[in-house]
Amino acid sequence: MGIQIAPSILSADFARLADVAAAVEGHADWLHVDVMDNHFVPNLTIGLPVVESLLKATGLPLDCHLMIADPDRWAPAYAEAGAGSVTFHAEAAHAPVRLARELRRLGSRAGLGLKPATPVEPYADLLPELDMLLLMTVEPGFGGQPFLDVVLPKVRRARELLDRHGGQVWLQVDGGISPETVERAADAGADVFVAGSAVYAAADPGAVVDGLRAAAEARSAARRA
Ligand code: DX5
Ligand code: ZN
Repeated sequence: MGIQIAPSILSADFARLADVAAAVEGHADWLHVDVMDNHFVPNLTIGLPVVESLLKATGLPLDCHLMIADPDRWAPAYAEAGAGSVTFHAEAAHAPVRLARELRRLGSRAGLGLKPATPVEPYADLLPELDMLLLMTVEPGFGGQPFLDVVLPKVRRARELLDRHGGQVWLQVDGGISPETVERAADAGADVFVAGSAVYAAADPGAVVDGLRAAAEARSAARRA
């Protein structure tokens, strides 16, 4: 699949979401939608009704990142609504295998998210049930936080696990991704990059997406050479 870029609308103007999506259409692979419930994380954003409206307003597939408690109960509705990818958190899920299978059955890709301090190794055997592993490179909850370099060794270990597993599981990094940090993350083996403030604080969000992709592609090619 190569390198993919998923701009996060968290740092954009929530009153103009159709325009926010249009600003990166033709540049981005996904639109990353951060759903927060004020329980799993100390912040509250948007939920299913807004996702349903966004699906009608953009041609970009939606990458729904659920930072919510009890995803076993709430996540399937996002797949049913038509989200292309639904990621739930390992720290919140009660039955991750059952939930991942349910998301896939409903036609979505299934993603598993890990906070910075959650190790990846306990989930190695679950990889065949997943389409994506999301490693948070900030504590989830807010945009605009500095990239946590301490997560990079875990990104490398996850890359090794995924390569050994031999499947087609994507490795996403989320938090603090910018032109300054994207190369470090690509060098560690990430292939899907979420960027919120770096994209939407810029005058030309599409150009930032293109720049992130070019930088990540160059590092990724060098890593595999
Ligand atoms: C944080 C969210 C991220 C956030 C990233 O909890 O999951 O997707 O939007 O924002 P930046 O790129 O500004 O760190
Ligand atoms: Zn996110």
